Amino acid sequence: MGIEGFEDAGVYKITNDIAIVQTVDFFTPVVDDPYWFGQIAAANAMSDIYAMGAIPKTALNIVCFSPKQYDISVLKEILRGGIDKIRESGASLLGGHSVDDEEVKYGLAVTGIVHPDRIIRNEGACPGDILILTKPLGTGILNTGIKGNMVRHDAIEKLISVMAELNRRASEAMLSVETHAATDVTGFGLAGHLKEMIKENIGVELYLDKLPYFEEAPYLAQSGFIPGGLYRNRDFYKNFVEGKREGFLYDIIFDPQTSGGLMFAIPPQGVERFERATQGVGLSSWVIGRFIEEPKGRIILI
Ligand code: CO
Ligand code: CO
Repeated sequence: MGIEGFEDAGVYKITNDIAIVQTVDFFTPVVDDPYWFGQIAAANAMSDIYAMGAIPKTALNIVCFSPKQYDISVLKEILRGGIDKIRESGASLLGGHSVDDEEVKYGLAVTGIVHPDRIIRNEGACPGDILILTKPLGTGILNTGIKGNMVRHDAIEKLISVMAELNRRASEAMLSVETHAATDVTGFGLAGHLKEMIKENIGVELYLDKLPYFEEAPYLAQSGFIPGGLYRNRDFYKNFVEGKREGFLYDIIFDPQTSGGLMFAIPPQGVERFERATQGVGLSSWVIGRFIEEPKGRIILI
């Protein structure tokens, strides 16, 4: 399984029982604290593995850093954040590569394993399936607000801990029920990644008043702290969106997410069991929509 179909990761079948799942992601710092940045970058890089229903097994560090620009202790903290997340995932760090670059970047190449029959792709949702999301939206808007010194310390801490959270428990919970399709919500926002789930095969109703978001996001968006990526996503995906196309809840579906949650399609009879699986493991989840037969390829805001 390669890059066609915009799957979250590539899959290569080794035997009838084992396929490897590979992905790579790295980016520039989203927060000032190097240890948290390392954790967020690593959690983000592993997210595509979890979205495919796979288990991360090995990771390689990818680092761009210039010792002329920053003290080497900064790099050590970034790597410590990454290693802590890799350890939490149960994977092993096998090595990595660094390049002297004045613009700091960090991330991972990750390999996971999955049974070839249990791969969860981004398409495959059926009419009637329920759409579930596992992290609140608005990380792009909040990160923009932070750059403008508009976000309180406790809100920043909450945001950082959500971005640094592995999608491991979300993946385990979705695997405990019959899941038809899944992806993670990242740079293309909720609408963009939802479009990859429906393609031209099926439609989806999105319950705007059920969308979870950081409580600071509406005020920040209203004050103009909107990331450029939100406008780009909106320009690109707005023609696939129908219904209540106005206000903050319309903006938030295009907000580019950093290390966002998983979003997946489960049949209605699986919802109760799924919700039981989330209890006691500290996993948040929200029912945010429902897949429909028609109109195909459309996201209907209701
Ligand atoms: Co992805
Ligand atoms: Co990715």
